[in-house]
Amino acid sequence: QDAPPAELSLHGKKVLISAGPTREALDPVRYITNRSSGKMGYALATAAVHAGAQVVLVSGPVALMPPDTVEMVAVESAEQMYAEIMARVQSFDIYIGAAAIADYTPVITQSEKIKKQATEMVITLKKTRDVLAEVACIAKHPFTVGFAAETHDLEHYAQDKLNRKKIDMIAANWVGKAQGGFESADNELHVFWKNGQKTLAMADKNQIAVQLIQLIAERMNEKST
Ligand code: CTP
Ligand code: CA
Repeated sequence: QDAPPAELSLHGKKVLISAGPTREALDPVRYITNRSSGKMGYALATAAVHAGAQVVLVSGPVALMPPDTVEMVAVESAEQMYAEIMARVQSFDIYIGAAAIADYTPVITQSEKIKKQATEMVITLKKTRDVLAEVACIAKHPFTVGFAAETHDLEHYAQDKLNRKKIDMIAANWVGKAQGGFESADNELHVFWKNGQKTLAMADKNQIAVQLIQLIAERMNEKST
């Protein structure tokens, strides 16, 4: 049987994508966040639509317009991100975690503005739930793809996340260097799965997204045959 044309490689598939940063409120006017433009997640949503998929995008606050045919779910906090994804993911074929979800959130969110007082202040944070790891734990989980933003030992940490979170694929990129990554229009991805790896050379995030979607479609087919 012939392979479907590349541009329709996800025809009939449902793809859930998370994108952008989260905001963890300290008080009504302040929050803790991550650096993330949302570009990679939105580019993946567009590429998945072009590949024939039905796409839902759960997004933190970003300054981007979603593609027309994508269903948008807007969230702010890591907790909301978790709830909206877990409520939907069961019926999807693919989950791509491109969001920069906060790892920690304030133990207390003050209902009134925190006033300036001492020269130092301490904020106590607690760990958030790992959406990606929990999606991969679902009995009939979708093909689960994570991202890893690393400043050092990229392959080591990417492989560690792949194994520890029991996901199907991880796309790692360098951050904090002049090499694309967050807030950049370009990106280079080092993609790892159980028995292989592939580097998607530095290119515009839209082009990288098309390549990653293609790789996901290929790996999914190999996994199910
Ligand atoms: N992720 C998630 N839920 C969280 C934190 C992260 O689903 N609470 C997902 C991200 O969407 C991404 C992947 O986990 O797909 C890896 O994120 P990253 O921050 O690189 O890894 P962490 O596991 O959070 O580890 P660390 O920040 O210590 O590198
Ligand atoms: Ca993290």
